[in-house]
Amino acid sequence: MATANNPRKILVTSALPYANGSIHLGHLVEYIQTDIWVRFHKMQGHQVHYVCADDTHGTPIMLRAEKEGITPETLIANVHKEHSADFSEFLVQFDNYYSTNAPENKELSQSIYKKLKAAGKISTKTIEQFYDPVKNMFLPDRFIKGECPKCHAKDQYGDSCEVCGATYNPTELINAYSAVSGAAPVRKETEHYFFKLSECEQFLKDWTRSGTLQGEAANKMGEWFENGLNDWDISRDAPYFGFEIPDAPGKYFYVWLDAPIGYMASFKKLCAENHPSGDENQKSGLNFDEYWAKDSQTELYHFIGKDILYFHALFWPATLEFSGHRKPTQIFAHGFLTVNGEKMSKSRGTFVTARSYLDHIKNPEYLRYYYAAKLNSTMEDIDLNLEDFVARVNSDLVGKYINIASRTAGFINKRFEGQLNPSANNTVVSEIKASANVIAESYTAREYGKALREIMRLADLANGFVADKAPWVMAKQEGQDAVLQEVCSDALEMFRLLTLYLKPVLPKLAGEIEQFLNIAPLSWDAVATSLLSQHRINAYEHLITRVDGKQIEAMTEANKENLQATPTLTPAPHSQQRHAEHQQAASAEAAEAEYISIDDFTKVDLRIAKIVNAEHVEGAEKLLKLSLDIGEDKPRQVFAGIKSAYDPATLIGRLTVMVANLAPRKMKFGMSEGMVLAASDERGGPFILSPDVGAAAGMKVK
Ligand code: MSP
Ligand code: ZN
Repeated sequence: MATANNPRKILVTSALPYANGSIHLGHLVEYIQTDIWVRFHKMQGHQVHYVCADDTHGTPIMLRAEKEGITPETLIANVHKEHSADFSEFLVQFDNYYSTNAPENKELSQSIYKKLKAAGKISTKTIEQFYDPVKNMFLPDRFIKGECPKCHAKDQYGDSCEVCGATYNPTELINAYSAVSGAAPVRKETEHYFFKLSECEQFLKDWTRSGTLQGEAANKMGEWFENGLNDWDISRDAPYFGFEIPDAPGKYFYVWLDAPIGYMASFKKLCAENHPSGDENQKSGLNFDEYWAKDSQTELYHFIGKDILYFHALFWPATLEFSGHRKPTQIFAHGFLTVNGEKMSKSRGTFVTARSYLDHIKNPEYLRYYYAAKLNSTMEDIDLNLEDFVARVNSDLVGKYINIASRTAGFINKRFEGQLNPSANNTVVSEIKASANVIAESYTAREYGKALREIMRLADLANGFVADKAPWVMAKQEGQDAVLQEVCSDALEMFRLLTLYLKPVLPKLAGEIEQFLNIAPLSWDAVATSLLSQHRINAYEHLITRVDGKQIEAMTEANKENLQATPTLTPAPHSQQRHAEHQQAASAEAAEAEYISIDDFTKVDLRIAKIVNAEHVEGAEKLLKLSLDIGEDKPRQVFAGIKSAYDPATLIGRLTVMVANLAPRKMKFGMSEGMVLAASDERGGPFILSPDVGAAAGMKVK
């Protein structure tokens, strides 16, 4: 690993989103994943550049602009503004966010094409394609519709049926018609340009073995090699919104040729912007060739979704290799987002745009946290379960993390004028510091879920320390000032360390906490420092609020309405998305367990209970005494082993779930007339349950 004087030079990209639609929660999986990785590496002191751009070319964008009565240039300029605002509000911090419709990209695409041609890798072939005789244009498969040859569903796309899932050629459709004009397409000959991928097989096989890909991705490559590689059709006929092919009038580069070159173009623009004179080649810091020349010693990482692996693991390295450029250091492919276990759906209101999330939930860091908690280094799909989202954000961020400061900072501010006096060595602080490497390794390996589990384990330790010392008790006792100050100072040191660990995920909150703690921006090596005696913190202000299930409901409702209000030319789903379904089928088998009958289950009388009182029990280490209203004359008295996780005062007024027909049990401290349910495992807990909005005390849970 490089040292601070010798930082690694790293260029990172996320896939370029199409400029014909809004950023949605699915896209954000990728941009948030990448941004966390970039921020973490920047915190480590490396020189990291994160670039991206809108992917602006192709038939759908051309047609959508036409439909809206604007030029494609105007359309992509509008979308660029919208995308940039979405990313910036989700704290996705690109060093440059560009466009593929830019002069740098045109120049690079054309020069790369010329190099491929000089290397003998370009050929031409006359092919027959569907043509719209009314609109006078060739039709991509996606713009031909008709009846499915297998199940006879009407209005299916030219490459696959959304009803039965069959894939086929557009020529097999029954009663095919053009989605643009409605006319029956005719077949017409045209000359196309091809990149001879079939000749790159040996190179690609070697490259696959070089460790650039995840295991699953390398396996996928293996399948593609077995099927044999076809030459890649890289040209489209006019009219087409894109770059013209040199010396080939009326022929344009297929959008997927210039799209990844957009990574280079965006970086090239960054190099030029970084230099006062605009000349990237003499810039002290950033030199384009240092990052892209064949012998480059810098690192290059592409984050992508699994649906575009083919483009990034076959076409892209071959394009780079045979045009005399370096190849990616690694390609990091992630899975697809599902919401509540299913594909995002407009009818269920789970196809949520970035903007709609911001309008309803407001805080982007909740989503960043939730995604991070779910993300790992594999290509498995990740699920946004909306109930779990609310529960996890509230319990981890509010209940565990922020709780540490909210229970201790007030004493420092009010009793000691903000001045700290930490102990010389606190074992919990040492344990938290000792985890720095494990957490760093998890971030590096894109095992964010693992990193966050460790961080929450440490937060539990910190909360245990606070609960154990009970500063609110000390504060009421005579002569305890020095200990009170020490305990609260130590808790704030724990809070500082946890903030550092969470900063790649929660950069805005971390900034606010740095202000509150009155410290310099935290970098990773600040693990080795400490809050010092006599350091003064600023006044503690409320840092974060709970998410309310109602906000989620309002969001999904609003997205159901949107569907009727705005019919748009929605991009067709990528064909590989269907693979997600195969994976789900496989995991159903894993769910084999011993069953109980429904009768067994209904024996348990579960009720919504309102916690009307909660208090500590003299002499009890783990228990809190709860009074639970379940609609009976008198509240039930229940002893619950949740003292380690909850301050009784915060429980009063909450609804939870209890077992109402458990035989009463005499305990050391009195009768317990039921049981409160709570979740826990090695990741933390206990967490008591909360019903959804609308539930009321006494309701049966069944
Ligand atoms: N324009 C191409 C990429 C060109 S890269 C040179 C494209 N655009 S996209 O807008 O469809 O997708 C952008 C990225 O978001 C892709 O990596 C894609 O996999 C990812 N996602 C889009 N929908 C997604 C989900 N529902 N879930 C997770 N990632 C998703 O592909
Ligand atoms: Zn069908």
